[in-house]
Amino acid sequence: MCVPPIPSRLMTGVDDVTVRVMAPHEFEAMRAVSVAAFGNDASIGHLLDGLRDSWAWHDELSFVAVRGDEVVAQVLYSSAIVDAPGRLVQVLVLSPVGVAPHLQRSGVGTKLITQSLAVLDARDEPLVFLEGSPSYYPRFGFRPGAELGFTAPSVRIPPPAFMVRPLPRYEPWMTGALVYPDVFWRFDAVGLRP
Ligand SMILES: CC(C)(COP(=O)(O)OP(=O)(O)OC[C@H]1O[C@@H](n2cnc3c(N)ncnc32)[C@H](O)[C@@H]1OP(=O)(O)O)[C@@H](O)C(=O)NCCC(=O)NCCS
Repeated sequence: MCVPPIPSRLMTGVDDVTVRVMAPHEFEAMRAVSVAAFGNDASIGHLLDGLRDSWAWHDELSFVAVRGDEVVAQVLYSSAIVDAPGRLVQVLVLSPVGVAPHLQRSGVGTKLITQSLAVLDARDEPLVFLEGSPSYYPRFGFRPGAELGFTAPSVRIPPPAFMVRPLPRYEPWMTGALVYPDVFWRFDAVGLRP
């Protein structure tokens, strides 16, 4: 698959935060920001380690927001499968996304998600899924997965939180169950627990 570089219009913004693909040497900094974003939740770091070592990882789909040389936010898209009636369809899952605690709610997440999603338009995957707040993600084009005929990989994902955003290669026959790769289960990173 040939993915073009991020267009220059995506490299600048209204402030001093820049969105770009993570460089390989930035993995630890990206990981640290994500763990901190989730309240020092170590399991996020373990999930990132597992994803990096799995078939679902794509170097070009780990995005960071940087201020100067400092990584201040991250978003990762990794591969999953939709078990559609006609055939298996390779799709993407947005997880995790995290902004350094001191910068949360200042527009960094919006910039990071908007600009990284724009890059996905050039890819073959037709859909991006996520588990997240139904009050936050619709602004990026996400809608409830059930509206397009998808079922969640776990009953522990509240239906409004199971969301999907079509990409240019989406076709309406693509329906069915979202199947997460093994790594999400190994790290118990699916849905909510009481
Ligand atoms: C969620 C997160 C990525 C959003 O990025 P951000 O830079 O803080 O958000 P922005 O400043 O771009 O956007 C602000 C908006 O997001 C909303 N928002 C922020 N965090 C939210 C959350 N956890 N749930 C719902 N809405 C949230 C704010 O209320 C605000 O809404 P408004 O524009 O209607 O006023 C960031 O807050 C974060 O890292 N949170 C901790 C980790 C996390 O929860 N990750 C996502 C799991 S689905």
